[in-house]
Amino acid sequence: MLEKCRRDETCRVCGADDWTEVISFGSLPLANGFVDPADADEAQDVFPLDVIVCRSCRLMTLRHVVDPGTLFKHYVYVSSDSDQIREHMAHIVGLATRRASLASGDLVVELGSNVGTQLAMFRAAGMRVAGVDPAANLAEIANARGIPTDPDFFGPEPAGRIALEQGRAKAVIGRQCFAHIDDVHRILDGVDAVLDDDGVLVIEVPYLLNLLDENQFDTIYHEHLSYFSLHTLRHLFGAHGLRIIDVERVAVHGGSIAVVAARESAARVPEPSVAALLGLEEERGLLTDAPYRAFAERVTRVTEAIRTLVRGLAADGHRVAGYGAPSKGTQLLMACGLTDQDITVCGDTTSLKHGKLLPGNRIPVLPPEEVAATEPDYYLLLAWNYTDEVVRKERRFLEAGGKFIVPIPEPRIISAQSAKELV
Ligand code: TMP
Ligand code: ZN
Repeated sequence: MLEKCRRDETCRVCGADDWTEVISFGSLPLANGFVDPADADEAQDVFPLDVIVCRSCRLMTLRHVVDPGTLFKHYVYVSSDSDQIREHMAHIVGLATRRASLASGDLVVELGSNVGTQLAMFRAAGMRVAGVDPAANLAEIANARGIPTDPDFFGPEPAGRIALEQGRAKAVIGRQCFAHIDDVHRILDGVDAVLDDDGVLVIEVPYLLNLLDENQFDTIYHEHLSYFSLHTLRHLFGAHGLRIIDVERVAVHGGSIAVVAARESAARVPEPSVAALLGLEEERGLLTDAPYRAFAERVTRVTEAIRTLVRGLAADGHRVAGYGAPSKGTQLLMACGLTDQDITVCGDTTSLKHGKLLPGNRIPVLPPEEVAATEPDYYLLLAWNYTDEVVRKERRFLEAGGKFIVPIPEPRIISAQSAKELV
């Protein structure tokens, strides 16, 4: 499988080649590589999943990079599913509007624009919009709903094309895609090609501190190449003449940061939020090896605890189904060594996933109603980042005696009784 995957010797951010090893999950199939039942008997490609930290810029990253064509050409993650994300996208419109002083008619460009949900909100606020996304199937959906989307990998060419046809962008947005990209320098060259002199770049990435603090080992899978701290992003942006002028911690995807950067030439004064978060990272030891090593030890313990709990319930005759089939759910099941003997089926609201099998363990994915009809006793909440929303939505299941297993930071069970304390 080597042609589809290569080992990175040097750091994608700073070019150094001095690494600290954090944890290895062995060789696993791609978490988003849902299997068609017709191909169920075919062996799936597996790729190494080893986590390392650069001793120079402190980037936490995967040692191996899977070819992006293999990963992203047909992509089943659709970003418009949940209330929480919708609210958050409205928040990002507000943040970009404030920091870029956006006015009606200004151009907003989004990289990794998925099916266009975020851009549709900018357009509703009066802006002109242009999206770029490598997943042809998603770009087609976006175009069909009237959000012009270029099915391409973002970089100087598509960005230059947009600049030529529509002028420069007052805001360039990249939500939850930066961590997926190997050649981050090419992305920033693309930003340079399209960003207005006083425009802003808004990048949102899952935040390393949340990952470490909350044992989010399941968010580590082949698609997620980089696990960013603000320190590392500052290093990266600085190399492209960009200065971070604001940062917010946001609750989406288990805890992320929305980072706002402007051209150094625009001489914008950073908000106090930037120094505050850099200070917190230093205080928490992110510039040393200690927190990464401690994380690795906790992951070994927590994966074991999840396996023991779920196996024990299944062995006692309880039906345990998966709630949601996110990529991190696949990763969680694989890392914990859980199979279709333990989890019979997963329910997910994304229609593109229905009828497919989870990579690795071949657990079938069905619409949530069909899973509910099998009357599970427990749901393993694989989409744990929506715990509050799910608990509210599934009140009847809980009141009928059903329970949720929330796997991380430490596995715990939510019953009707404990849910009262949650919401
Ligand atoms: P995400 O964490 O990457 O957004 O993925 C969440 C997955 O969980 C996605 O496939 C949709 C699914 N999901 C449900 O099936 N039911 C729900 O109530 C929610 C919020 C998500
Ligand atoms: Zn580095």
